[in-house]
Amino acid sequence: MKVADTHYRTIWVNEDGWSVDLIDQRWLPHELRIETVRSVEGIATAIRDMWVRGAPLIGVTAAYGVAIRMREDPSDAALDAVWETLHETRPTAINLRWALDAMRRLLRTLPEAERAEAAYKRAAEIADEDVELNRSIGRHGLEIIRKIAAGKKPGEPVGILTHCNAGWLATVDYGTATAPIYLAVEEGIPVHVYVDETRPRNQGAHLTSWEMAGHGVPHTLIVDNAGGHLMQHGMVDMVIVGTDRTTADGDVCNKIGTYLKALAAKDNGVPFYVALPSPTIDWTVRDGVKEIPIEERSGDEVSLVWGKDEDGRVRQVRISPEATPAGNPAFDVTPARLVTGLITERGIAEASAEGLKALFPERANADAA
Ligand code: MRU
Repeated sequence: MKVADTHYRTIWVNEDGWSVDLIDQRWLPHELRIETVRSVEGIATAIRDMWVRGAPLIGVTAAYGVAIRMREDPSDAALDAVWETLHETRPTAINLRWALDAMRRLLRTLPEAERAEAAYKRAAEIADEDVELNRSIGRHGLEIIRKIAAGKKPGEPVGILTHCNAGWLATVDYGTATAPIYLAVEEGIPVHVYVDETRPRNQGAHLTSWEMAGHGVPHTLIVDNAGGHLMQHGMVDMVIVGTDRTTADGDVCNKIGTYLKALAAKDNGVPFYVALPSPTIDWTVRDGVKEIPIEERSGDEVSLVWGKDEDGRVRQVRISPEATPAGNPAFDVTPARLVTGLITERGIAEASAEGLKALFPERANADAA
C-alpha cells in the first residue's frame, strides 16, 4: 500500500540482494523507520520484539530468516537449527510454523549448493502468494459489505468494527481484515471503521488508525471497552477481524479481546466475520481453547505505554505502580459458534469442520492424517 506517494510492502530484499529490509512497526504511527536485518539473530529479534508482527508477516519474515542462514551454511544441521530458533520466537501464530515447514520441506530435497538461491526464491514466492491471498480475501469480503450497503439508506455508511491490526502491516500487503474495506472504499461504498485501540500494545491505535488515515478511510478510534455500547446503538453493521490460528473445527484464535467482541456481537445480532488466508488454518488442532498455545508476553507491555510527548519524542511512560505485577496473555480464542463466517481466499466458509472441509478438501484430508 502507499505511504505518502510511495508504494511499500512490509518486507523486501535489500538492494544488496540478500539482507532483508522491513518496516520497524514499533515506531508507527510517529515515524516510518526501515531496518536492514543481516542475520538469523536479527530476524529472531525482529519477530520476538515485534518490529514485525501479524501472523502472515511473521511467517514471511521467518522464511527470509531461513534464506539468510542458508547463504551462510546450507547444511541440514543449520536448516534444523534455524527452524528451531525461529519457531520459538512467537508460539501462537501458526503461519510461522507453516512457513518454516514449507522452507525446510523444499530445501531438504536440494543439494546444499542450490539451497541459498532456492531459499530466497521460495521466500519471495511466499511473500507474493500472501499478497494474492489477501486480494482474494478482499474480493470475497467485499461481497458482504456490498450486501450490507444495499440494505442501507443512500450515503449511509456501513459501520465496521475491527480489533488489533489485521491490515497491510500485518501481512506483506493489503491485509486480511482490511482488504475488503480498502476495496469497498475504492468502489465508492461509504464505510465507517471503528478501530479498537487494542491494549496493551495498541496495534489498533498505532497501526490500524495509521493505515486508515493514510488511505482516506473514514474511521474513529475507540477504547476496547466501547464496542458493545456501539453495537447496542446500531453503529456497527459487522465486525471483521484477523486470526493467528484457526482450528479445523473453526475456532478462531486472535488478539486478546477478540472473544469479548464476538460475545457482544452475538448478543446484538451483529455479524462477526474473520478474514484469513489458508496458511492460518491449523488442521491438526480442533479445540482452540484447549489446544492452542497462548503467548504470555511481558507485563511491561501492560504497565508501560509508548507515545509521543509534547516535544515530539517517542517514549514510554509507566501507568501503574512499580510494585503491581501485570499479566499479559496476548491472544484469546473465539469459539466457532460465535463466528458468522470465515472469509478465505476461496470464499466464505461456515466456521465448522464441514464448512472448512468444503472449501479446502485436499488440505483437510492431507494435513489431519
Ligand atoms: O501480536 P500481534 O500484533 O502479532 O497480533 C496480530 C493479530 O492478532 C492479528 O489480528 C492477526 O495476526 C491476523 S493478521 C492478518
